[in-house]
Amino acid sequence: MNLPNLRHLSLLLVLSGIGGCGSSGDTSRRADPLREVATIALDRAVTQYKLMDDAVPDSLLPRTSAEDGTLVTHRPGWWTSGFFPGSLWLLYEYAGDTDLKERAEARTWLIEGEKDNLGDHDIGFKINNSFGNALRITGDTTRYAPVVVDAAQSLLRRFDPTVGLIRSWGELDDTDEPYLVIIDNMMNLALLFRATELSGDSTFFNVAVTHADNTLRDHFRPDGSSYHVVEYSPRTGERMRGRTNQGAADSSAWARGQAWGLYGFTETYRNTDDRRYLDQAITIADFLLDNPALPDDGVPYWDFDAPGIPDALRDASAGAIMASALLELQDYVDANRASRYRSSAEKILRTLSGPEYLAEVGTNGNFLLKHSVGSVPANSEVDVPLTYADYYFIEALLRLDSVSDE
Ligand code: GLY
Repeated sequence: MNLPNLRHLSLLLVLSGIGGCGSSGDTSRRADPLREVATIALDRAVTQYKLMDDAVPDSLLPRTSAEDGTLVTHRPGWWTSGFFPGSLWLLYEYAGDTDLKERAEARTWLIEGEKDNLGDHDIGFKINNSFGNALRITGDTTRYAPVVVDAAQSLLRRFDPTVGLIRSWGELDDTDEPYLVIIDNMMNLALLFRATELSGDSTFFNVAVTHADNTLRDHFRPDGSSYHVVEYSPRTGERMRGRTNQGAADSSAWARGQAWGLYGFTETYRNTDDRRYLDQAITIADFLLDNPALPDDGVPYWDFDAPGIPDALRDASAGAIMASALLELQDYVDANRASRYRSSAEKILRTLSGPEYLAEVGTNGNFLLKHSVGSVPANSEVDVPLTYADYYFIEALLRLDSVSDE
C-alpha cells in the first residue's frame, strides 16, 4: 500500500489549512502559493522520474538530453551516478510510494562498485547521494552503512598528509603533475563525516576538517569568491596557483563552484559546529546575493563574470544548489540574514518552477529542469538538463517544508 509519508502529509495539510506550525488562526502558510508551487513541481517530478526510470536501461543512468530531446545516459563510473538514485530516494521520501523505493534501491545497488573507485574525489557525490540517502531514509544500517564506510575508506586514500588535502583529480601517487584540488571537493566531505558517525573512527572526521581548513586558507579571494582549481606541489604541498577549469577565466567566479562552496561550508558547519565554517558560508552567501551580476529572478549566469552578461547563459544547476544551501544556512544565522537567505532561496525556486525552467511531463528527456551548464570552456553540456540540477531542486523543494517560518 502506498501511503503518503509525513513530509507529503505535512505539505497537504498546510495547503488545506489544517496543519502547519501555527494555530488555527495562522493564515500565512495557508495562503502561501510557494508551497502550492512546490507541491505541483514535486508531483511532476514523481511522474517524470518514473518515466525516466522506465526509459533508462537497467545498467545505465541518466546524464542529460540531446538537442533533439533524446536521453543521454552514462555508466556508473561517471561522476554524476549518485544523483538519479538519490533523486528517487528523495521522491520516495516525499511521496511514500513503494514503487519509487524499489526503483531507488535498484539504481542504488547498480553503482555499488563505485565504493572502490579511487580514480577521483567524486566517490562522495556518488555514494553519499545514493547509499547515504538510502541509509538516512530507511535506517537500514545492515545493508547500507558498510558501503558508505568502504567508500569513505577509498576517499581517504586520496588524502596526502604532506599536502593536507584530498586530491580531487589526477593519479593518486603522481609526483610529476600538479596536485589538483577543486572547490567542488567540499561536497565530498559529508561522506567522511557520515563514516565517522557510523564507524566511530575519527580518522574520517579529522581528514574532512583538515581538508576544509586548507580550502579555507587557499581557495578564497578577498571578495569571498573562490577559484575553481588550486594547484599544489605534489612533493612539498606548497600552493602554486589558483585557476579555473569550467569558469570563464582564472580570476572569475564560476557560478556552480560558488554554489558548491556555499553548500559545502554550510554542511561542514552542520557536521562540526565550528564557527569558522559558518562564517565562510555567510561570506559566500553575501558575495552571491550582493553581486550586481545576479539576475533579479535569482538564477545565476553560468559565471558571475561571464562575457556577454546580460545575454549570457544561465545555470539552473547553480541556482538549485544555492537555493538548497540557503534554506539550510538560514537556520544557523541571525533573523535578518535568515529572512534574506530564505527569501532569496524562495525566489530561485519560484523561477525554477516556472515554465522557462520546469519542463512539461514527457519532454526534456524526462529531466525536470532546463537550462543548466556543464562546461562552457569545453563546449560540453551547454544549456541542457543535468541530473544534478534536478537532485538539488528536489532537495530544496523538500527543504521548504522542513525549515521554520519567519
Ligand atoms: N563537479 C563537477 C561539476 O560541478 O561540474
